[in-house]
Amino acid sequence: LELKMNIEQIEKGGYDHFMLKEIYEQPRAILDTYRGRLRADQGIIKMAGIDEHLEKFMNANRIIIVACGTSWHAGLVAEYIFEDLARVPVEVEYASEFRYRNPVITNKDVLIAISQSGETADTLAAIKLAKEKGAFVFGVCNVVGSSIARETDAGAYTHAGPEIGVASTKAFTTQITVLTLIALKLAKEKGEFSESKFHEFLTELETIPAKVEKALESNPLVEIISDVYKDATNCLYLGRGYNFPVALEGALKLKEISYIHAEGYPAAEMKHGPIALIDDQMPVFVIATKKGHYEKVVSNIQEIKSRKGKIIAIVTEGDEQVTELADHVIEVPETLESLSPLLTTIPLQLLSYHIAVMRGCNVDQPRNLAKSVTVE
Ligand code: AGP
Repeated sequence: LELKMNIEQIEKGGYDHFMLKEIYEQPRAILDTYRGRLRADQGIIKMAGIDEHLEKFMNANRIIIVACGTSWHAGLVAEYIFEDLARVPVEVEYASEFRYRNPVITNKDVLIAISQSGETADTLAAIKLAKEKGAFVFGVCNVVGSSIARETDAGAYTHAGPEIGVASTKAFTTQITVLTLIALKLAKEKGEFSESKFHEFLTELETIPAKVEKALESNPLVEIISDVYKDATNCLYLGRGYNFPVALEGALKLKEISYIHAEGYPAAEMKHGPIALIDDQMPVFVIATKKGHYEKVVSNIQEIKSRKGKIIAIVTEGDEQVTELADHVIEVPETLESLSPLLTTIPLQLLSYHIAVMRGCNVDQPRNLAKSVTVE
């Protein structure tokens, strides 16, 4: 037993939990994911799985993304990226719903399945269904040689390294990285991007690991904020556009490891119901970065403030307007709006981690959950 404990300590590399280690591995994991694929100096993206099947993507009527949990959130971010940059229609589906609702699938569809483990039963079943109907199926997996990696027609691995903590962290950001590379490649091939715009994206993507490193520097502040809200019974997470899925992901992280009820919403949906929940006991985490519908988010924040909700905002470095209104702000570096989820998600991961630790929860193995969900 002692030996087992020592091995585990070594595996955690000096961190108290795998989750924290994996959060801190993200700069490296993102770099490993685009290394060898992104060649900004030559202005190219090389991905064997896409290059070999380019015509499938170029001729696709639409892309259907299927996944579960955090991987589904990465799919939602990808929907914004693919539609915005590559101008391809995208549908994002929970694998468990998609497979049972007799979906319309044709051989002009490309289905992208996203899964860290590559073993999620519902995602696997959705792949089999899409293949039967003639769709081209592409996998985005982390675990090499996993069932989904084997079942798909082609794919691209996220090179995140082993993810042990049940709460997915580096898998999420590396999934977004792979999907961004694909979207950029398609945007270029379809002529949606000028050389200079393409180059701007590639060079900005190369700055992301260092910017994630910077975002991680918020850790001591996030710990202080976590202490203030650790006893909350409910929390709201709000974001718009590219950062709406980040709000969903922030809420999922808090639910699964801290056992605090949390909900993510597109900020503008507040007025259609959830605003009734706001009182002086309700912490509201708002992603309010400069480039993402900033003025609109500012007015959403004002609505919360006038109802005495507590506002914790994720803002762009140097922000003034939201900083004046919010109870707490956490800064992340500036980047292109479409790349911002890679940064805004970092403090939310840290927040759920610290709150879980403070509440005495089993961070790496939360109750009732397994790392890969092989049951249907
Ligand atoms: C994430 O923190 C969860 N543990 C869970 O939602 C997970 O993302 C989901 O089960 C999908 O797993 P997969 O990526 O291995 O398919």
